Amino acid sequence: MSANRPGDSFSSNFGMVAAAIGSAIGLGNLWRFPYLVGQNGGAAFIIVYLIITLVISTPILLSEMVIGRRGGGSPRQSYIAVSGRKGWGVAGIIGMVTCFMIMSFYVVVGGWTIKYLVLSLQMAFARGAQIDSVGLFSGFVGSSFPPIAYAGLFIVLTLVIICLGVQKGIEATSKLMMPMLFVLIILIGIRSVTLPGAEAGLEYLFKPDFSSFTFSSLLAALGQSFFSLSLGACMLITYGAYTPRSSNLVRNAAVITVSDTFFAVLAGCAIMPAVFAFGINPSEGAGLVFVTLPQIFTQMPLGGLCSILFFVALFMAAISSSVSLFEVIAASLMDICKISRGKAAAITGVTLMITGCICSLSQGVLKNITVRGMSIFDQFDYLSSNFFMTLGGLLTVICVGWFVKKRDFMDEITASGHLRVSGALASVLFFIIKYVAPLVIVGTAISIIF
Ligand code: PHE
Repeated sequence: MSANRPGDSFSSNFGMVAAAIGSAIGLGNLWRFPYLVGQNGGAAFIIVYLIITLVISTPILLSEMVIGRRGGGSPRQSYIAVSGRKGWGVAGIIGMVTCFMIMSFYVVVGGWTIKYLVLSLQMAFARGAQIDSVGLFSGFVGSSFPPIAYAGLFIVLTLVIICLGVQKGIEATSKLMMPMLFVLIILIGIRSVTLPGAEAGLEYLFKPDFSSFTFSSLLAALGQSFFSLSLGACMLITYGAYTPRSSNLVRNAAVITVSDTFFAVLAGCAIMPAVFAFGINPSEGAGLVFVTLPQIFTQMPLGGLCSILFFVALFMAAISSSVSLFEVIAASLMDICKISRGKAAAITGVTLMITGCICSLSQGVLKNITVRGMSIFDQFDYLSSNFFMTLGGLLTVICVGWFVKKRDFMDEITASGHLRVSGALASVLFFIIKYVAPLVIVGTAISIIF
């Protein structure tokens, strides 16, 4: 059934897993997770996040891979192939639109990471440097040309990786960057937890406080789990199509989930102790990474080095996620418009430059244009993670649970009987995909509306 073109597949299972982890680990882990933990009761949030990720998100992740590998084409083609119905192609198109929306603001933040990496290499955040980190950040993002130029550079770098193809581009860069990313975050973590006063940060992260855990915390945990694992955006459907036939999808799903979650906790351990050691408010949000941390670097021993390591890590996390978003769009365009990889990448790049510009300018000169009180940038962020990704996740589980036969599901996860997967585990997974996950997603959506 596979419609893979030669070269459009990962050379090994490790390559596939590294690329999927590269997509999952991104800005979501490095700034969103730590402050959400802080705002929602520390360990109480982590426990609920872990349960949701294990019970709901992992089966959805598996479903995406099943659709992708069985379908073997772009998300649109794969949905049609596994469901046997043309109408399901729309789900693949929705995935492409979702990635486009995420990318429109992701490239802007990606541009900021390059700017901050350059500043850190110039030792702007070295110990003793005098900076007004608030003014620096707001002055930069609110200006017109510089952030657009950096976003453009970020798009070009993503484009280069995409044009090199699945094996030489996506796989090769992920295999190199993912292990480095773990090493970097562990190094920063060691520096952070050995600062005087760091214990308060660890306590804040790991001491459960169920009193500040509310219903909205539950929603935040679900949304974060989706965003962090890149669910509902057809990412794993696209990468699934490039996955070797012999790969063990259940094990891959477990490895991807565990790595992404472990990295998020490591990021929390790298950031929060430092924040507490310098007596700063932890629920800073977006500003945490670009405003608070630079301030901290200038005050701590080895701050200059740590700032370089941190912004290299942030850049690598951002670009590997950006590559996956770009690939979903490019693969979809290659299929829909019947064009080459190079052309699809060029069209995607140019279109993203336009929407990226609009998002970037909405932090400055276009600030006054708001929709429901949110800037265009925030609106893209809000709509993609709260609406489009949830819808995408729901379509995935409905497609696998109700339109793919359990026999075919088993065939896929056992690689046509070559792998042993416990019958009980497979039944539990299928039950979750068919009933539990759709109910949880619909229930959450209803509670958000009312
Ligand atoms: N998972 C990425 C992050 O944590 C974001 C992302 C979402 C990437 C959807 C691809 C698809 O930043």
